[in-house]
Parts: sequence; structure tokens; C-alpha cells
Amino acid sequence: MYREIRPGIYWVGAVDWDVRNFHGYTTRFGTTYNAYLIKADKTVLVDTVKHGFEDELFSKLDSLKVERIDYLVINHIEMDHAGSVREVLERYPEARIVTNVRGKNGLKEAYGVDHETVVVKTGETLNTGKTLKFIEMPLIHWPDSMATYVVEDRVLMPNDAFGEHYASERRFDDEFSDEEMGIVFRESAKYYANIILLYSKQVKRILEQFEVLEIQPEIIAPSHGIIWRSRIDGMVKKYMEWSSGIAENRVVIAYDTMWNHTMDALDSVVEGIEEVGVDYVIYRLGVSDFTEVMTDIMLSRGVIIGSPTLNRELFPTVAAFLTYMRGLKPFGKIAGAFGSYGWSGEAVGKIVEVFNSLKFDVVKTVRFKFSPSKARDELRDLGRSVAEKVNDSE
Ligand code: FEO
Repeated sequence: MYREIRPGIYWVGAVDWDVRNFHGYTTRFGTTYNAYLIKADKTVLVDTVKHGFEDELFSKLDSLKVERIDYLVINHIEMDHAGSVREVLERYPEARIVTNVRGKNGLKEAYGVDHETVVVKTGETLNTGKTLKFIEMPLIHWPDSMATYVVEDRVLMPNDAFGEHYASERRFDDEFSDEEMGIVFRESAKYYANIILLYSKQVKRILEQFEVLEIQPEIIAPSHGIIWRSRIDGMVKKYMEWSSGIAENRVVIAYDTMWNHTMDALDSVVEGIEEVGVDYVIYRLGVSDFTEVMTDIMLSRGVIIGSPTLNRELFPTVAAFLTYMRGLKPFGKIAGAFGSYGWSGEAVGKIVEVFNSLKFDVVKTVRFKFSPSKARDELRDLGRSVAEKVNDSE
């Protein structure tokens, strides 16, 4: 069923209750592909839905008696939003596409769509009976990403920004209890940590640009998850914090182990953290969801990574996680590393190489031969030192 979000503006998207893996990102609550219809003098569809969900979109358009679409705004060409562009254009061939130059090129390259297009730039407007203002948001999180703002209704449609993977029959934030919102905010953090974190500088720039462009939304309608109208300030504040590297007094310990020696060392690291009284969370990487680990790393000031050395390299699960983490470019972390080795012991140095590439503040490292029994004091000191600096940096 469609939902009216302002007079003449409707949610016409699709709910994907079943998806549990979104190109490697775990989606335990499913997701939604939000598309919006703006009916005024002209009829405008903002974004489509993932291929395979177009019938859900079309049934809502039929319920709204849409016989003609004048403009199809493509805010983002990724397949979960533009995946039905061909089907939409087949059904509504008169529709003119509205997108930026990168979106136009991308539609041709990714979908073979070379259709009549109105190419827009930041700050330009289109009068459809309502005024649509466009804001290019390159690399939040693809080069083509863009937001559409309905000026009179103060509705911002920023595509992936401010979204989260969360399937629900409810559309608006005020239809959720505070307890439920805790889960939604965690999913928003997970989305930011795993999709947008890499582009935090661009996020800060765009948030500043919103003021210059007089974008003062009363409703933020992203392309995934719920529509913000009662908790907008809280959501925008979180984007400001996450893009500035503001995090909580907590240490994430992510490790793996081969013959349990690196795991045995954990007790001492944790003792040191507990002496200082800082919260911590532990993930064994071989059995953990990297996207959840990454969420906690973004939300925490401290990071400690543990790995045994295998064949002069990092343990493979740790290497995989560090590759994933490095790609997302977390920043401003206080860090430590530890690990067991048999004879060569390269793992800890390789962890530090990753930390250095991310400009983490590396407080202490400990490596030990086989058993950690002789390194207990050093390991406790590692936990204590990281925790103290986490506290001091508040
Ligand atoms: Fe939700 Fe970048 O697609």
C-alpha cells in the first residue's frame, strides 16, 4: 500500500523482507527500496526499485491512478534503485529522466538506457507545480549520487544517505517506540559504517552545503528504511558525529586464534581494560559478521586487533577483516595489537602497518612466542594503556 507523506507526495517503494545478504553486507532485518511519487501539475517518480520488485511499484502507481509520468528522477544509478529503470520507461515511455551528468552516463553504461534526459546540477530547480531542487552528492556513496528536495513541502529525498536496511510495514520514525528506534539507529550506524564512512569528508561538506542551499527539511525520505519526520535532528546529529569521528568510550577487540594462544592472551588484555573501567566488546573474526564488527569500530574510540602468525602472514580471517576495514577508512582511533607466533612473528607488525595507513594512534603492541604466560603483564598493560587513552581523549 502506498503512503502519503505530504499532500501530493507518496511513498511508492517496495519492502524486501527476505534479503539477508546485500552484496556481502548482512541485512538481518531485510530492507526497503523506497521510491517516491510527486503529483502536482506534472507527475514525478523519484527513483525506481530493485529489479524484481517493479510490480510492487507499479501496483502502487496504479492505486494512485498514475497513467503518465512526466519526469523520472534518478538520484542514484545503483541496481537497488535504478534496477527497474527499463521497466518503468517501457510502461511510461513519455517520462523524461532527470539526473546529473554522471547519472546520465551511468544509466547508459550500466543499463544501456539512452533516453531523453534533463541534466541537472547542484542548486538547479525544476518546476513541476512543486519546486524540485537538486543537490549532487558525489561519492555519498557513488559518483552519481544526488538528493532531490521538494522546496514547498520541505521534503528531502537524499537516496542512500540517512537510510538503513530495515524492512517494516511502518514508514515513519514516529510509528516506532524509543526501544525500537534503538534498533533502527543501530542499523543506521551500521549503514554509515559499512557504506558511507569512507566518504565522511564529503558528508561534512554536503551538510554544510545544505545550509547554503537553504535545505531545511521537515521530512527526510531516504531510499532505504524509514522516513524521518519526528527525529530528524537526532539523525542529522548522528551524521555530524559519525562524519567527524566522534565515538564512544569503548574498546573493540577483534581477534582470531590458531591454537588458542592468541585467545588465551585476551583475558589479560581484558583485565587491563577492566582496571580502567572502560566498556569493551570482543569479536572472534572467524565466526563474526564483519559488518557488525565494523559498526562497533566506528562507534568506539579504541581498537585492539589480535592475530597469530601463519606462514609469515596474518591469520587469514584477520587479514580479510583488516582489508575490509582499511577500505572503509575509519579514523581517529586509539589502537593496540597483540598475537602469538611460533618462530617468525610477522602478524603484529602487519596489523600495525594497517593502523599506520589509517593514521591510528598506536599505543602499544605485544607479541609472544606460543603461550602468553610470560607476557601477561605486557598484555594487561596493553589493555590498560589503550583504555586510559580512550578515557583521556574524551
Ligand atoms: Fe542503496 Fe547505493 O544503493
